[in-house]
Amino acid sequence: MITILGAGAMGSALATPLRERGHEVRLWGTWLDDHLLNAVEAGKPHPRTNVPVPAGTRLFRSHELEASLTGSDICILAVASVGVEGVTRLAAPWLSTIGTLVVTSKGFITDESGTVQLLPESISTIFTSLGLDVPKIVAVGGPCKANEVAAGRPTATVYGSADIEEARRVGRAIQTENYRVEAITDYIGLEIAAPLKNVFAIALGFADGLAEITPEPWHNLRSAIFAQALREMSDITTDFGGDAATVYGLAGSGDLEVTGLSGRNKVYGARIGAGESASTALQAMIDAEQTVEGVPAVALAVALAAQRFSDASSRLPLLHAIQNVVDGQDSPLQELMAAALPRMIV
Ligand SMILES: NC(=O)c1ccc[n+]([C@@H]2O[C@H](COP(=O)([O-])OP(=O)(O)OC[C@H]3O[C@@H](n4cnc5c(N)ncnc54)[C@H](O)[C@@H]3O)[C@@H](O)[C@H]2O)c1
Repeated sequence: MITILGAGAMGSALATPLRERGHEVRLWGTWLDDHLLNAVEAGKPHPRTNVPVPAGTRLFRSHELEASLTGSDICILAVASVGVEGVTRLAAPWLSTIGTLVVTSKGFITDESGTVQLLPESISTIFTSLGLDVPKIVAVGGPCKANEVAAGRPTATVYGSADIEEARRVGRAIQTENYRVEAITDYIGLEIAAPLKNVFAIALGFADGLAEITPEPWHNLRSAIFAQALREMSDITTDFGGDAATVYGLAGSGDLEVTGLSGRNKVYGARIGAGESASTALQAMIDAEQTVEGVPAVALAVALAAQRFSDASSRLPLLHAIQNVVDGQDSPLQELMAAALPRMIV
C-alpha cells in the first residue's frame, strides 16, 4: 500500500505506474487541492495533467491525513517545495513509523538559523526536532514531466538515496515497462540539480521568448546557456561532495532539457524574453495558478552559493545573472550574454 501526499500534477501522475503495478494507492490532497479532487471525483481528467487518475486510486481530503497514511508501506511526498516543511511536520508521526519517504518535491529550504539546506537534510531535521525516528529518504529526479508519467509514456527517472538498497527497493516496487528507475547513491547531485534546473530553465525560456518576437531562433545563445548551467550545477555539486556525473546524466542534463522545453519556469522566462517585465510575467503566472518554483529557488541558490564560496558571483555567473533578471534588471539579454558566452580574449 502506497500513500502519495499532494494531489497536484506529480502526485496524481504517480498513481499511473503504481496502479499498473497493482499497488493499493491512496492519494491525499492538501487543503489547497479540494478543487482538483472534486474534478477527479466528478469523473473528469485531473486538471493539472489532463489525464484521468487511474481507477481504484483512493482519494483522501486534507482532514483525512491519518487515514491516508495508516498501514502504508511507502509514502511519496509530492507537494511543492513551499509546502514540504508544513506537510512533513503534519505527517511526521506516521512517516516515522512507515520508515521510507520518497520525495519528488524539488527545492532548497532555509532553517531557523537562516542556513539554506538541501531537502533531505531539512526533512531529517524536522524529524529530529520532533524526537521522531528519521525515515529513509529517497529523492526522485530526472526528466520526468507529470503529464507524460500520468499518460504512461516512456520515462527515465532517478531515485537517489545514501542507502542504495532502499533506492533499489522502492524503484523495484514502482517501476513499470514505461516508468524506469535508475537507482543512485548520489542524492546530493540529484538534490542540487533538481531545483537548479528550474532556475536555469528560466534562462532557456528567455532565449525562446527572444525567438518569439524577432522571429528568428536564438539557438546558439540557448545552447551556451545550457552548457553554462551544467557547469555551474556541477561546480556546486562537487563542492558538496556530490558527483559531477549525476549532473551530466539524467538528473541534471536530462531534467534541464525537459524543463527547458516546456513547463512553468520556461514559460515565465519566455515571457521576459518576449518583452514583459519580470514582475508582469510573474503576475501572469500567478493569475494562471502556475507556481514558478525557479523564482524562490534562485534566491535560495544564491544564498546557498554565498555560504559555500567567497567568489560566488564570479564563479557562478549564470545563477547570479538569473537572480538579476528575476529582480527586474533592465537589460536581461546583456546579463545572460555576459554570463553564458566566453569572455573576450585579450
Ligand atoms: N510537474 C512535474 O512535471 C514535476 C516533475 C518532477 C517533480 N516535480 C516536483 O513535484 C512537486 C510538486 O509539483 P507539481 O507539478 O505536482 O505541482 P502542483 O502545483 O500541481 O501541485 C502542488 C502540490 O503542492 C501542494 N502545495 C502547494 N503549496 C503548498 C503549501 N504552501 N502548503 C502545502 N502544500 C502546498 C498543493 O496542494 C499540491 O498538492 C514540486 O516540487 C515539483 O518541482 C514536478
